[in-house]
Amino acid sequence: MKIYVPLDSAAVALGADKVAAAITDEAARRGVTVEVVRNGSRGMVWLEPLVEVVSAEGRLGFGPMAVADVAGLFGDLASHPKAVGLVEELPWMKGQTRLTFARVGVIDPLSLDDYRAHGGLVGLERAVKMAAPEIVAEVTESGLRGRGGAGFPTGIKWKTVSEAVADQKYIVCNADEGDSATFADRMLMEGDPFTLIEGMAIAGLATGATKGYVYIRSEYPVAIRVMEAAVRIAREAGVLGPRFDMEIRVGAGAYVCGEETSLLNSLEGKRGVVRAKPPLPALQGFLGRPTVVNNVISLASVPVIMARGAAYYKDFGLGRSRGTIPLQIAGNVRFGGLYEVAFGLTLGQIVNEIGGGTASGRPVKAVQVGGPLGAWFPVSLFDTPFGYEEFGAKDGLIGHAGLTVADDTIDMLQMARFAMEFCAIESCGKCTPCRIGSIRGVETLDRLARGDTSAIPLITDLCNTMKLGSLCALGGFTPYPVMSALTHFPDDFVRAKEAAE
Ligand code: NAI
Repeated sequence: MKIYVPLDSAAVALGADKVAAAITDEAARRGVTVEVVRNGSRGMVWLEPLVEVVSAEGRLGFGPMAVADVAGLFGDLASHPKAVGLVEELPWMKGQTRLTFARVGVIDPLSLDDYRAHGGLVGLERAVKMAAPEIVAEVTESGLRGRGGAGFPTGIKWKTVSEAVADQKYIVCNADEGDSATFADRMLMEGDPFTLIEGMAIAGLATGATKGYVYIRSEYPVAIRVMEAAVRIAREAGVLGPRFDMEIRVGAGAYVCGEETSLLNSLEGKRGVVRAKPPLPALQGFLGRPTVVNNVISLASVPVIMARGAAYYKDFGLGRSRGTIPLQIAGNVRFGGLYEVAFGLTLGQIVNEIGGGTASGRPVKAVQVGGPLGAWFPVSLFDTPFGYEEFGAKDGLIGHAGLTVADDTIDMLQMARFAMEFCAIESCGKCTPCRIGSIRGVETLDRLARGDTSAIPLITDLCNTMKLGSLCALGGFTPYPVMSALTHFPDDFVRAKEAAE
C-alpha cells in the first residue's frame, strides 16, 4: 500500500504530521506494509490534510483527514466518509493548466528519480547543448515576465547579465515571499525543489553565472529544510557542480528584504536597507557583480519553457501576459488555495467560480490583488481579465498573484489605515516619503475616522508624494490600497464622518 501525505506547511498546520504518524502506527498494528510518501500540496487547502492512496485507477483522495479517519483507510475505501474520489479528476485539478506546478503534489519532492520520471531535467539537458545567447533568446521568446510582481521580461534581464563582462556573476533567487495571501514560492519549494534548482542552473548557463543563492525567509522552515536537502542531492548526483553550484541563505524576516536591493544587502551580511537604482543589480548586484535576481516562480517556470519550447509556453495567456500564473486565493473565501491557469480569467471568475465566493456566505465587497501593496477591486471591476496591463489599466497590479477576498462586513477605511500602518512598521527608513509619509498617513486616516473629511485632499496629496518619491515599491505602492479604498468605497470614509457626528 502506498499513501501520500503532504509535508507542505499548510497541510502540516492542519495536522498532516499527526495523520502521517497515525497511518504508520495503524499499519504496524494491523501488520500491513505501507509506504508513506510525504509529497507537496495539490493546492486545495480546504481539503488539507489531503491523503492520497494509490489504487489501480489512480490516486484516491481523502480529506480533510483527521487522526480519527485513519483506521478507515484500511477498510472499504469507497465508503470512507472523507473520500473525494480520484484527485486528478476533481474539478479544481481538471480546470488548471499546471506547467510550473505540474509535479507539485505528484512526486516525492526529494526523489531525483521521481523528478526525472516526471519530465525533470529535460530542460537543463537541452540548455547544456545550447549557446548562452540561444538560451536567453528562448526565454525572451517565451514571453516570461517576472512573477515576483513587477513583470519585467525575464529574458531581457538575463541578456543584461549575460552581456556584462565580469570575473564572477551570480543568480539570486528571491524566496522572501512576504506578501500576505501569497504562498506559491513556498509551495513550489516544498513540493518540487528540483524544478527551482534546474531553473537556476539554466539561468547560470544562460548568463555565465557559476554561483547561485536562494534567499528564503526564516518563516519557511519546511521550505528551507527541503531546499537544503535537494541541493545536497543535486550536488551528489552531479546536477550541480563546478559549472553551477548554489547555496540556501535564510533571511531574518523583514518584509523589505523581498525588495531586491535590500535582499542583496542582507545576503552580503549588511542591514536590509534599499539601495538606490541605478546601478541595476543586473550590472552591479551581489558583491557588486552582475546578478540575476529572480523570483522563485520565474526561475521555476524556465525548465518547462526549455523542455517544451518557447512557442508552447507563449501560446497560453492574454496580451503581453504570456504563459500561466499560479493564483493564490485567500482571505474570506470558500475554496482557498493555489490554482495555476493561463492569464486571462476575469477577476469575477476567479473569485466566484474557482474560489466559490466568500466562506462566510455573505456578498463579496472587495478583493485585494497583489498583496498588501495591491489595490482593492470592487465587484464592479470583476470583468477585469487577469493580466499585467489589464490590472494596470484599472489602477491596480497583479503583483505576485495573491488575492485576498473580503465580504460586506469589511471597513475599507480601516483597510486603508492598515496599509499605511504596515508600511510604517516595515519601512527600512532609508527614504523620507516612506519612513515619514506612512506615519503621517496613519494619522491622517485617523483624522478621517474621526469625521474630519478635510483630510481627504491631504491623504491624496500624501499618496502622490509617496508614489512618486519613494525609493522602492514599499513606499511607492502603499498608495494603491489606500487610494483604491477611497476611490471605490467613498461611503466607508463618509460613514466614519456620520458616526463621529
Ligand atoms: P522594478 O520595476 O523596479 O524592477 C523589476 C525588475 O527588473 C528588477 O529586478 C530590476 O532590477 C529589473 N530591471 C529593470 N530594468 C532593467 C533593465 N534594463 N535590465 C535588466 N533588469 C532590469 O520593480 P521592483 O521594485 O523590483 O518590484 C516591484 C514589485 O514587487 C511590485 O510590483 C510588487 O508587486 C512586488 N512585490 C512582491 C512581493 C512578494 O512577496 N512577492 C512583496 C512586495 C512587492
